[in-house]
Amino acid sequence: VTEATSNERLWTFAGGDIGAFRVLQTVSVCGATLPDVTRLNVFSGVTPKGAAAVAAPGFVLRGVVSNERYATRAEKKDLVQAQAAIGRPEAQHGALIPIKKNAAWWALTQDERRRIFEDDSNHIAIGMRALPAIARRLHHCRDLASAEPFDFLTWFDFAPQLRPQFDDLLGALRATKEWEYVEREVEVWVER
Ligand code: HEM
Repeated sequence: VTEATSNERLWTFAGGDIGAFRVLQTVSVCGATLPDVTRLNVFSGVTPKGAAAVAAPGFVLRGVVSNERYATRAEKKDLVQAQAAIGRPEAQHGALIPIKKNAAWWALTQDERRRIFEDDSNHIAIGMRALPAIARRLHHCRDLASAEPFDFLTWFDFAPQLRPQFDDLLGALRATKEWEYVEREVEVWVER
């Protein structure tokens, strides 16, 4: 990816020894884990602005914020009303959870995926219960020209005392039919 092809929807998550986030723990849920790093540098675009280049990164993950694929108008209306933006001052803890789904998922049609995602798995309904306490931003990796190790970079922040609620959310989502299609998932827990 070069700067010329970047836009404000492109985000980079560089794990290394610089960045605004201290990495507390890296945990593989399934599939290969990511290298252990001490800091996470999160920035829009390809290169961090004004700062030293990504110093000896352990990993560099990129994705773009995109249009919705599955949410209906009614669901989108509820989401927009309830959700908070990433970066609230009290949201000192966060998690980067990169996810890759398997070939069987990507072989499905749009309407088949929607059925699994919401009619069977209630992803949005489950997620709505965590709003506005948990803020989220979804990045798509398959929209990039480069081959990427994950399909999605999911990024969350919340006040430290809300970690149990976030763990409940993870447990509920991972018990769904949708998650049977997840072949790689890693948690990178951070503190601002
Ligand atoms: C905080 C509460 C959450 C809410 C409100 C929420 C809501 C949503 C919505 C509305 C979409 C679909 C966007 C579209 O229409 O394309 C979505 C997609 C997704 N979410 Fe969540 N979500 C939440 C938590 C999570 C968590 C904790 C994870 C990961 C562990 C996660 C992983 C994903 C992934 C991977 C997708 C993309 C699915 C696909 O396109 O195949 N979500 N989420």
